[in-house]
Amino acid sequence: MQYLTQKLRLSDVDFADRSVLVRVDFNIPLNNGVIVDDTRIRLALPTIHHLLVSGAKVILVTHVGRPSGFDVALSTLPMAEHLSKLLGLRVKHAVDCIGSEVEAIVSEMVTGDVLLIENVRFYQEETDNDPEFARQLAGLADIYVNDAFGAVHRAHASTTGIHYPVAVTGQLMEREINYLGSLLAAPKRPFVAIIGGAKISDKIGVIENLINTVDELVIGGGMGYTFLKAMGNQIGGSIVELDKLDLATDLMTKAEAKGVTIHLPVDHVIGQEFDPDTPAKIVPRNQIPIDWEGFDIGPETVEVFGQVIDRAETIFWNGPVGVYEFDQFAVGTLSLAKRIAETDAISIIGGGDCVAAVQKAGVSDQISHISTGGGASLELIEGKELPGIATLTDKADYSS
Ligand code: 3PG
Repeated sequence: MQYLTQKLRLSDVDFADRSVLVRVDFNIPLNNGVIVDDTRIRLALPTIHHLLVSGAKVILVTHVGRPSGFDVALSTLPMAEHLSKLLGLRVKHAVDCIGSEVEAIVSEMVTGDVLLIENVRFYQEETDNDPEFARQLAGLADIYVNDAFGAVHRAHASTTGIHYPVAVTGQLMEREINYLGSLLAAPKRPFVAIIGGAKISDKIGVIENLINTVDELVIGGGMGYTFLKAMGNQIGGSIVELDKLDLATDLMTKAEAKGVTIHLPVDHVIGQEFDPDTPAKIVPRNQIPIDWEGFDIGPETVEVFGQVIDRAETIFWNGPVGVYEFDQFAVGTLSLAKRIAETDAISIIGGGDCVAAVQKAGVSDQISHISTGGGASLELIEGKELPGIATLTDKADYSS
């Protein structure tokens, strides 16, 4: 597990008159070029403000989506326009991220200017971490700041390939890692993790690592049925990973050995079709008919899980406990979001689905920390080394 204490922070560096390449994560939902959710842009503002106040020229770089080649629908232009409004100054936009046109814009930048270059993923070289592509990006500035927590688990050209003598941690990155890192280092107890989502296979490492740290583990969503099946329950036609039954048993055995209580649903909201209007009913655990599927936790489970939440001092939640996109199967997930919001516990939520769920429940402002990183937050909780952090400059190696 890496902590930031030894990494260079914004306040350690003099940015006056320097050109600073800032890797941000503006990978945000767009609908026909219209920004649907600007959270990631707003959360990058403190770093941008710090650099502007310090007298820097700010060149922002991000990926958007997973394009193959140039795709106007994934251009950074709407973000530049939106950022102009948020900052109250005209943010320049470059129609490419490397090459003579961008270089010409950069050469005319003065202190206090902000430029957002085009989506780096328009080049395959970005995800390939191509050294020549990284070298061209690096040529745009002379200090690197990484504030793209959401992309910190990617070893791509703009996250790990740029080699400047000074590579600094942005403020959003610092906040994210401090919150998530504190979960594993010194959580206030009882520490409860709620893990949902469709598949165990996506979260094996996370569950294994959390078992070493949490006091209680709540498991819901599609992956809960694999655990219930492994215990010998009748789960009807619910989603299950048959090749992970032994793994589920193994995780439950490990948890027991560590004194960690695992809570699984005691009742279910079931339906016959994956359809928002399919007729639904509530059944107890072990009584899902063969041609029905579990789509949400039932009311008794909401209460059981709610009591676990009530006694927690720290809560980490990743993954919905039902098909929350369909109103009739969203009750479990939204109820947990509200219950978490009502506690005084430190609450940390990661992953796009849970973030959307707390927004849908209208309780975002009652959550201690909503992580901007889905995959990144999971890899951090797994205890993996994150390449985008590993390449930041250590304080010990820096002399101003
Ligand atoms: C995210 O949205 O999780 C990050 O921006 C990373 O995006 P990616 O999974 O396409 O690399």
